Amino acid sequence: MALDGKLLARARDRLEKIKRENETEFTRRQTLVYSKVPEIREIDSRLRALMADVIRLTLKKGGDVGQAVKSIQNESLELQARRAELLVENGWPIDYLDDNYSCKKCRDTGYVAGKICDCLKELYDQEVAKSLSCLLKLGQQSFETFDLGYYDDTADPVTGISPREYMETVYRHCLEYAQTFERRTESLLLRGDTGLGKTFLSACIARVVSAKGFSVVYDTAVSALGAFETQKFARIPSEAEEAEFRVRQILDCDLMILDDLGTEMVTAFSSSALYTLINTRIINGKKTVINTNLSSEELRRRYSPQICSRLEGEFWNLEFVGRDIRSIKKERGLS
Ligand SMILES: Nc1ncnc2c1ncn2[C@@H]1O[C@H](COP(=O)(O)OP(=O)(O)OP(=O)(O)O)[C@@H](O)[C@H]1O
Ligand SMILES: [Mg+2]
Repeated sequence: MALDGKLLARARDRLEKIKRENETEFTRRQTLVYSKVPEIREIDSRLRALMADVIRLTLKKGGDVGQAVKSIQNESLELQARRAELLVENGWPIDYLDDNYSCKKCRDTGYVAGKICDCLKELYDQEVAKSLSCLLKLGQQSFETFDLGYYDDTADPVTGISPREYMETVYRHCLEYAQTFERRTESLLLRGDTGLGKTFLSACIARVVSAKGFSVVYDTAVSALGAFETQKFARIPSEAEEAEFRVRQILDCDLMILDDLGTEMVTAFSSSALYTLINTRIINGKKTVINTNLSSEELRRRYSPQICSRLEGEFWNLEFVGRDIRSIKKERGLS
């Protein structure tokens, strides 16, 4: 996968900062040791001089340099042993003045033999996760602020269950889903009329899942499927590139929240993009939360049997019930 330049630059900046901090720490240790045990400073300076001598000798053409190099090596070993002894005698660990790198493989440069090192890749992945979570405008929405009081507690005469009791089970299911996200295999389809809390509850799931360190993308169906279209048809290369990155995020993130499915215009292209989105994520074992106002009959009328079969078989369907909370809030003067 091509790396995003902006995020890679951010990851490199962080590595550079780590490197600078390590250098500062090294200088601090060196200053401390040299001031307390000046003999170590003298040893270090002699070791540097010996190193320069070796280089000079090996560059010299002709003559027998072997003996001279050997005697330098011996002196160097003796000095290093004395240095180690002094460090330990004075209560410092033997490697206290060794090069201080967070990653020994790349010595904090981020690259090994021209290839990106695992440490830089790890920082890059963290930047990707952060940027994805930024796309979620979570606001105040959390499981703690989800208020069951908005759902009527009058029992249904046929089922004997009130909308509040029913929505409590939906709420509990979503909470458990988020809390045990890593062990779940199924996706969720949140279905119901407008204003019943589908976007709210999916944002609650997103908050918990992204706090666990998983990458989460939130997008509406119109915008997500639009990215597939831009990726394919944009004439401006930078637009196509940006859309390609977005599509990668949509396909690869750990949790995709696709909001308002059914509000997009259905075309042959949007249907195929939706199929790609759902199917690719299933194949890669990635979970998706889809929100829609459409009933299962409406979904069947609108989408292909391949899409509907996946929505019914691979998604846990949760029905939302009650009265439009936007209206209730208006009546209560809360919005
Ligand atoms: N349980 C709840 N507690 C507090 N506020 C809620 C709750 N459910 C929904 N709301 C609020 O009610 C409004 C509508 O909720 P939301 O947007 O989640 O509905 P929706 O089911 O996604 O509707 P639509 O189908 O129109 O997208 C929002 O302002 C939301 O913050
Ligand atoms: Mg919504």
